[in-house]
Amino acid sequence: MTIGYAPGKVILFGEHAVVYGRPAIAVPVTQVQAQAEVEDAEKGQGITIVARDLGQTYKLNEAPPDDALRAIVVSTLRRIKVGLEHDLTITISSSIPVARGLGSGAAVSTAIVRALVGHFDKWLDSRAISDLVFETEKIHHGTPSGIDNTVIAFQKPVYFVRGERMEIFWVQHPFLLAIADTGVQSPTKVAVEDVRRGWEEDPVKYEGLFDDIGTIADMGRRAIEQGDIEAMGRLMDENQRLLRLLKVSSPELEGLIGAARQGGALGAKLSGAGRGGNMIALVTRETCSQVSMMLRLAGAKDVIVTEVS
Ligand code: PMV
Repeated sequence: MTIGYAPGKVILFGEHAVVYGRPAIAVPVTQVQAQAEVEDAEKGQGITIVARDLGQTYKLNEAPPDDALRAIVVSTLRRIKVGLEHDLTITISSSIPVARGLGSGAAVSTAIVRALVGHFDKWLDSRAISDLVFETEKIHHGTPSGIDNTVIAFQKPVYFVRGERMEIFWVQHPFLLAIADTGVQSPTKVAVEDVRRGWEEDPVKYEGLFDDIGTIADMGRRAIEQGDIEAMGRLMDENQRLLRLLKVSSPELEGLIGAARQGGALGAKLSGAGRGGNMIALVTRETCSQVSMMLRLAGAKDVIVTEVS
């Protein structure tokens, strides 16, 4: 049996504007992960997909073409030149909550690619894995920027400009993030479509907001590279102010953001598509437990503290 793993991720700066060509910054979150196991099945069984968390088991050749798990299995096998006639059982499980901005879709796909590549003794570099996962992300997201598959496949902090460049960058001083879940599922596709509608109605205003968010992502990268944690916190707050203007925040997110600030976080913002999902708060070793407690008291369904390094 071969097992492939992939981490979750959070976006530190630049979500939504990244869809419109502005830079964004994302980091992997290793406390949560997706896992795919590949094992040989009895002859004649074909390929079976077991989505353990969803309680679903189905044959690859019976799944509809837009089934994301089917899509990544087929494209990976094609990429590594392995025929679909193999008898395999692919079992998927994940501790990454679905549709909460932590990249669960991209992580599951990445884990599947890694497990299949390992099972057939092949090799694909991170770029090739990221490209395969990107194709499947289109099924989940419609028009993904590509940041999720990139940060998850490379498993490093990334500075990302859609269709243009991706740079892995160095974190000067590791820092702590508290990641809190509103418990509200928010499909990325819906939030992205709503922002698009706003942009179509008032392009000048939205382009201005995207520019400001892009500037924050650039300044955020500099702050991270210089280890300037106070500046990072201020930039997170400013990014959140702009996300509010894009109308992707929500009362639940605002409740958690307020609680984090009260608990002493240096900055806090939503992360990912917004409207629900997760928020992130910049904390220190001293403020970490206080902020986590405040987040739970304010209704967070889960709080993860992760070190970004
Ligand atoms: O909800 P998530 O974590 O998949 O993040 C979406 C980020 C967006 O910028 C809103 C969309 C995208 O494709 O980059």
